[in-house]
Amino acid sequence: MVGPAYTAVAEKYPQDQNTVNMLSQKVINGGSGVWGAVPMAPHPAIPLADANKIVKYILTLNSKSPPANSK
Ligand code: HEM
Repeated sequence: MVGPAYTAVAEKYPQDQNTVNMLSQKVINGGSGVWGAVPMAPHPAIPLADANKIVKYILTLNSKSPPANSK
């Protein structure tokens, strides 16, 4: 395992558009310093629309406040 568990990411951030925008930029550009010393590599080939979908999915993994439309 290298990065944080998606469930841990989902519990850390609110499910809102600002978070989707911010984390999508991190997936595309890479990021560091939030979860420890290891940086996440950039993924410049992922289109922003796809990153948005991935991050929205990750944020649904929050057990404390599942989205209204989740099953
Ligand atoms: C498309 C694939 C990926 C997605 C959707 C993804 C998603 C994420 C998200 C949402 C975060 C949290 C960022 C934050 O809280 O600021 C994160 C962090 C991280 N990811 Fe990824 N990631 C991907 C691929 C990778 C890969 C390939 C690696 C390893 C080379 C990696 C390593 C990390 C690390 C080390 C962190 C923590 C960075 C920090 O401390 O700020 N990720 N990732």
